[in-house]
Amino acid sequence: MQSSSNWGIIATWRMAYEGISESAQMLAEDQDSTRAALHAVTRVEDYPYYKSVGYGGLPNECGEVELDAAFMNGDTLAVGALAGVKDLANPVLVAEALSRERFNSFMVGEGAREWALRQGFEEKPMLTERAQQHYVKRRRETIDRGLSPYAGHDTVGVIALDQQRKMSVATSTSGLFMKRPGRVGDSPVSGSGFYADSHIGAATATGLGEDLMKGCISYEIVRRMGDGLSAQQAADSAVWDLEQRLLERYGRAGDLSLVCMNNRGEFGVATNIDNFSFSVATATHPSTIYLAWREGKRTHYREADQEWLDAYQDRITAVVS
Ligand code: GLY
Repeated sequence: MQSSSNWGIIATWRMAYEGISESAQMLAEDQDSTRAALHAVTRVEDYPYYKSVGYGGLPNECGEVELDAAFMNGDTLAVGALAGVKDLANPVLVAEALSRERFNSFMVGEGAREWALRQGFEEKPMLTERAQQHYVKRRRETIDRGLSPYAGHDTVGVIALDQQRKMSVATSTSGLFMKRPGRVGDSPVSGSGFYADSHIGAATATGLGEDLMKGCISYEIVRRMGDGLSAQQAADSAVWDLEQRLLERYGRAGDLSLVCMNNRGEFGVATNIDNFSFSVATATHPSTIYLAWREGKRTHYREADQEWLDAYQDRITAVVS
């Protein structure tokens, strides 16, 4: 296929900013979208202060960190995923390796871990002291004050488009804080937490996996882009429709936030929460952190200002008390 000078990368949340900025440089140098997406996700997995992904991720109700991750190659539609794995340094790299397997490409628990270790992937205790402190604090809040144990669950999802017009998407999460052991959300589930088709575009999700999966929302957004909607229209209409269906038929809707990009590098975002942050860079758009919110059926966004960025940094590094 003929190359183009177009490229792009977009990710859920501010936490992906450093990673996508480095990956943007890789894409500008004509590197492959798989490498770019994996680089951005591993940066988040390795950073101990992000408490919903990789090292430093928050544990399940038994105090154990169980990780989910996935990778999809938009050229071949190959998918690799793993769920409920413990003590692997970079689950997303294992997911990519699984995407190259003809069979057994979605693995869970001990089987996934053993396979990864046999392939030479790094073993690492993923529960940090800080995550343990959050766990103790949340248990206290849950018991003493009746707060929901399930608040806060931010998946990193990264979509990359390279100059060969190949799209890749990768996700990684420690899932819902205080989840039951064995619980799996949308992030490793193709069509829900992510989807990529280089002929059309890609989408990836963050929010309440139980509800995101009810709409196969990432696939639905890609499908709508394939039907001719812009990335923004596809994201907004699909998230709105899913939320309405959930409210009417299920009686409630959890957090639903998505980013998407078409194969021309045009991006979209949709959310039903206030202040959903996302990070994006394209050939024509410098690396930027945005804050998104919804008014009516439409998602709006503005660049994050210094005040917000400083408060964010203070919040994620604050002493756990
Ligand atoms: N969206 C991540 C999860 O529900 O596990």
